[in-house]
Parts: sequence; structure tokens; C-alpha cells
Amino acid sequence: KVFNNQRCASVWIAGEIAQIIKQKQAQQLPCVLGLATGSTPIQVYKELVRLHKEEGLSFQNVITFNLDEYFPIPKESLHSYYHFMHENLFNHVDIQKENIHIPDGTLIKEQIEDFCQYYEKLILEKGGLDFQLLGIGSTGHIGFNEPGSSVNSKTRLITLDRKTRADASSSFYGIENVPKYAITMGIGTILQAKKIIIAAFTEGKQRIASTVIEGQLSSQYPATFLQNHKNTLFVLERASAQGL
Ligand code: GLP
Repeated sequence: KVFNNQRCASVWIAGEIAQIIKQKQAQQLPCVLGLATGSTPIQVYKELVRLHKEEGLSFQNVITFNLDEYFPIPKESLHSYYHFMHENLFNHVDIQKENIHIPDGTLIKEQIEDFCQYYEKLILEKGGLDFQLLGIGSTGHIGFNEPGSSVNSKTRLITLDRKTRADASSSFYGIENVPKYAITMGIGTILQAKKIIIAAFTEGKQRIASTVIEGQLSSQYPATFLQNHKNTLFVLERASAQGL
């Protein structure tokens, strides 16, 4: 789906998410959302906050699982995804704190494997992801599933690609400050979501968007695995769609 601009696309995506939340509310069921970080979803979250404040959209039945988190990173770091999610969404809506799940960047290395298994188990226990929102990295990663990630991969510790670290370097004031690792849901975890929307905005995403949508399925571009998912929608705007 190609929109005229990022704002229209973001408002539309937020509307889709709101509808899923409301459908679940009508059935008196929890709504399990997989959420993403990065610049791409910021306006989606802004619109969700607006829908909450101005149109009474409630997040009381919403359970969230974030895709990923840098490792190691303190929660209070301005660069942590914990901080990002609270700043952009959680602090502004009525979600219950115990329903928020974000991979923990403060663990010691020996705890990570158990944590990852727990994260996978918890997603299933809550009923699985009703919806997953995704952005895309310049390496073709979703979450932090870098090139080489297998289609069945689960939540795990991953070494970040040098290009991913370079992309993040300006906000960290230098590549040497960007963490070398992250904890990420796997491709297999993401593909279990009932519905997926992947968004790519701005001219900078042209090349990777066309590779992922039109290219061959390959672990070199992990997002290509979405081509085989039954209910995935790629949302672009004019600039990011130009390479198609
Ligand atoms: C990070 C996140 C991804 C995100 C990507 C792109 O790598 N882990 O989930 O999709 O950044 O970020 P942006 O939306 O800022 O281009």
C-alpha cells in the first residue's frame, strides 16, 4: 500500500491497530501487540496517543511485546528501547504496566538464554501476537535479525551488523558508543503473528524496500521471509516506493 506521505501512512496504520484493539475489546479479550522502535513508527504512536486522548481509545486490554533491545543497556539510557517506548507511547496511554514486555538489556550474559525462552513462552501464554508492527533496517533486518538469521530463529542474543551500528552511530555520538549486541525476537517469532504491517518511509528506504518486496527469499535479507507470511502488508509512501 503506497501513501502520499508518511503522515497519511502513519495515521492509517494507527487506525488499523485501533481497530484490532477495539475488536478484541468487543469480544472481551486481550489484544497482543508486537511493537517496533526506530524513527519509522514514531508518528504511528503519536496518532495512537491522539486516538487515546481525543477519541477515548483504551489500552486497558492491550498486552505488548517489543521486538528488541540493545545489549547491554540500562533502562534509563536515552538510547534504550525501554526509554523510547515509554516516551513515545506507554507514558501517554492507559496501558497497565504489567502488560508491557520489552527484552531486558540489563541482564548478565548468563541469564540471557533463560530470559529468551521465557519471552517466547510468555508470548504464547498470552495467546500469540495478534498484530506485529515492523520497520526495516538498511541491512534488511526486522527487529534486529541481521543477515544470516534463519527463518525459524527465536528470541536470542545477536551480534549487530557493522552497518546497523554505523546507522545508529549519529544518535549515539560515534559508532564506538553503539552496543555490539541486541536481544531480538526471531524471524520465527515474528512470522507467528496473525497480522503484520511493515513500514518503510523516506527515500533512504527505496533500495531496501524494493529488494525485500521484489527480491528472492534469502537470509541475506531477512525481511524477504515476510513474502511467505499469509497476512503481511508493506506500507510505503511516495519516496520509499520509487524503487519498485
Ligand atoms: C533498528 C530497530 C528496527 C528498526 C530499524 C530501522 O535497527 N531495531 O526495528 O526497524 O532500526 O529504524 P528506522 O525506522 O529509524 O529507519
